[in-house]
Amino acid sequence: MCGIFGLITNEQNLPVAQTIREGLERLEYRGYDSAGIALVHNGSIELRKKAGRIIDINKDGWFDSMQGEFGFGHTRWATHGKPVYNNAHPHVDCTGKIALVHNGIIENYQDLRKELSLRGHKFSSDTDTEVFPHLIEEFMGKGFDLKDSVISAVKMCKGAYGIVVCHADNPDYMVVARKESPLVIGIIPGKTTFCASDIPAFLPLTREAIVLDDNEVAILRPGKVEIYKIDSGEPKTFNQFQVNYTMDAAQKVLDGKNYKWFMHKELHEVPRKIRDQVGVPQADLDSFAKTIMDADHVFITAAGTAYYAALAGKYQITQFGGPYIQAILCSEFVDALPEMPPNSVVIAVSQSGETADTMEAIRYAKEKFGAKICSVVNVVGSSLTRYSDEVIITTAGLEIAVASQKAYCTQITALTMVALRIAELRGRLTENQVANYHQALLDSADSIEQMIIEEGKIKEIGLKIIQSENIYFLARGLSQSAAMEGALKLKEIAYIHTEAYAAGESKHGPIALIEDGFPVIFVAPPDQTYDRLIGNIMEMKSRGGLIISVVASFDERVTEISDYTIRVPIANTIEAIETSIVPFAFALQTMAYFIANEKGLDPDKPRNLAKSVTVK
Ligand code: F6R
Repeated sequence: MCGIFGLITNEQNLPVAQTIREGLERLEYRGYDSAGIALVHNGSIELRKKAGRIIDINKDGWFDSMQGEFGFGHTRWATHGKPVYNNAHPHVDCTGKIALVHNGIIENYQDLRKELSLRGHKFSSDTDTEVFPHLIEEFMGKGFDLKDSVISAVKMCKGAYGIVVCHADNPDYMVVARKESPLVIGIIPGKTTFCASDIPAFLPLTREAIVLDDNEVAILRPGKVEIYKIDSGEPKTFNQFQVNYTMDAAQKVLDGKNYKWFMHKELHEVPRKIRDQVGVPQADLDSFAKTIMDADHVFITAAGTAYYAALAGKYQITQFGGPYIQAILCSEFVDALPEMPPNSVVIAVSQSGETADTMEAIRYAKEKFGAKICSVVNVVGSSLTRYSDEVIITTAGLEIAVASQKAYCTQITALTMVALRIAELRGRLTENQVANYHQALLDSADSIEQMIIEEGKIKEIGLKIIQSENIYFLARGLSQSAAMEGALKLKEIAYIHTEAYAAGESKHGPIALIEDGFPVIFVAPPDQTYDRLIGNIMEMKSRGGLIISVVASFDERVTEISDYTIRVPIANTIEAIETSIVPFAFALQTMAYFIANEKGLDPDKPRNLAKSVTVK
């Protein structure tokens, strides 16, 4: 989390401060509790920072009016220290000549801080980050140049970092370094070099990119980059590549229609993204499926929404005749598995491909136990794609809303494609049967399109529960993924306390809270769980629960016993029913969006959250 954007240029007409501020705004999804910019100007550091969002801080051009030749900025998601001025980045050393921004967490900062304080360094923040400029100050005091001082400093730090550093006396370069936190470089050869936490941040300025790998440091000069290995100090040859996606996705416009929020626009993109996902390259699908089939043990891991997509994928792969898969939250992976059996495969699911917990899980599995990593990732070139043995890229494209939804829909579609391919390779389904399922997945996109046309009906149901303080989401089997996703969305963007439970489990405790009017949302597709789910609905209904059910358009029995229903237009065929999880979840994502919007909340940037969680 946290967004970093910096630039160094020899182009006289490039407004440095304004360009950095605009870059930071494109990264605000990574954190938005405070922001700051540091520029090198005539041999000193000009520094401005404040708590709040960039748009408010820059009122009257507070950032844009800064003077300087080059520099960088930071938009923060607080980890160590409250979101106040002192803790906002950039941070400086005792001399005020070294400025630095950081994304990540330094685990041994308390020890380092004590040692530095004993040697006379003065700290002005509660952050872990502030040890960096002071360590660099010490090494520069010993006669090291800026790059070697950065190398020596990062070697003393345990944890994750993407950092950018400048020194007021070095008028023509700045230094970046990374370990387990993203940092990419953009370049206009001979003119300007950018560094940022992700590629889209500099995409309006250049399409030429360079990826800095873990344990590397780079010197950035105007239009020129040198990369060195941190361990050996050796220079590294590297590739520059052209980014081939566009920034259209970064506009709140779709098919000529203007949207108030990215989340709404991105929900409306889901049908086309699902169709794209069904077209996943056959070669990628084959090697992904075969790697899973060849394994003796298969695990699946992810965080948050991606984990719920992973749960759906686990069900689909097993139901279609693939291996049993053990699902483990990535933040629990290391503790849950002190040992891993030989010949294991870990499937990792992630939108960003940078989630620190996910990366920790797969590094652990691969480096300690030789597991193969198969990942389903949205961001091309992300750490996860580079670390995996097999990759399926999801077709969600750039996702701006912090609460992920089109990524979830494409992740499940991708994993269902894998499930179907395994079924075909194992002879559980014929080619024709698989073709019918593919058609059903395409039809699920049509179903969502129909729901979009009639989204007012979903909004109406949402308005019935807008005042609720607590809501249960119950489901069985595969549909639990949709229930969990619906509950998370409502919690994170509408700030309503929700809990998703396996419906059968609800009578073992949660039912104690049910009284007149307590809303209980059931995900009730007409699959093999349907009859048993009706029993659970009756248990809640007879205690006064307000029953809202998400049902197939042709449903009768659940409709009869529900107070309200959201109807999902699917065909009454096995194929349509078994692939209907995405439209069912979509209905709940849409409902959460309307509730948040109606409450006057910002669904794109929910409080305390960041899109890419790069701390453990
Ligand atoms: C919720 C949400 C998060 C992410 C989670 C994993 O709407 O967006 O729960 O799904 O932080 O992120 P990725 O998919 O980037 O690994």
